[in-house]
Amino acid sequence: MGVAKYMFSKVAKALSSKKIYLSKSLSYRNEPLKLNTNFDHIRMATLELCYDEIIRNNVKGNISEIGVYKGNFAKRLNSLFSDRDFYLFDTFSGFDSKDSNKEMSNGYSTADQNFSDTSVKAVLAKMPFVKKCIVKQGYFPDTTVDINDSFCFVSIDADLYNPILEGLKYFYPRLEKGGYIFIHDFNNDEYKGAKDAVLEYCVNNNIAYVPIPDSGGTVVINKPLAPKT
Ligand SMILES: C[S@@+](CC[C@H](N)C(=O)[O-])C[C@H]1O[C@@H](n2cnc3c(N)ncnc32)[C@H](O)[C@@H]1O
Repeated sequence: MGVAKYMFSKVAKALSSKKIYLSKSLSYRNEPLKLNTNFDHIRMATLELCYDEIIRNNVKGNISEIGVYKGNFAKRLNSLFSDRDFYLFDTFSGFDSKDSNKEMSNGYSTADQNFSDTSVKAVLAKMPFVKKCIVKQGYFPDTTVDINDSFCFVSIDADLYNPILEGLKYFYPRLEKGGYIFIHDFNNDEYKGAKDAVLEYCVNNNIAYVPIPDSGGTVVINKPLAPKT
């Protein structure tokens, strides 16, 4: 083994003990990634591949995120889906006590993370295509009442059982065939309600899901395309 290869294997081994893995991605695909970022490569690359499928399959519909916080994932969604309306759902003041109480009584999580240090203004200032953004501030799902739309991509990143289950109940029926839903925290031991909510909805409704090894333990749902006639 050459010195460089030996050093690489040493560094890779040391990093893997910290759950950081050095491995090739999309080796046989010539096209460079549009979202070329070190922010959670696996989630970003999976998002981009799903985006490519949405475009290739001519899937109609708009996009949404429940759980925007400071807009770190939202700005990437807005940049990729630049021609789609983007509904951003958040209280912008953190968890609601209705949801936190349920978390604690079910032993899902302590629900004590503070997500109140953000604002609609600060989030919108980050958006590359701000005119496509429709902010729905307040308690989800109450903030859905005046919407009549369909979706090709939805990110559910609300951490807790209640808003995740409500998110699936609201968005899955409104997801276009060929559309995708990413649900963060499915494999996060700090927020056990996420997995329960996804399993409850998917098992009861006969929906398949694929967990991915990104940093947040995301799970991906895809609504099958209609067969070509
Ligand atoms: C983990 S943060 C979202 C992180 C964000 N997606 C990012 O890219 O950094 C979770 C967010 O979900 C929001 N949230 C949780 N439950 C909610 C509910 N029922 N209605 C509206 N927002 C909710 C919180 O206010 C918080 O900002």
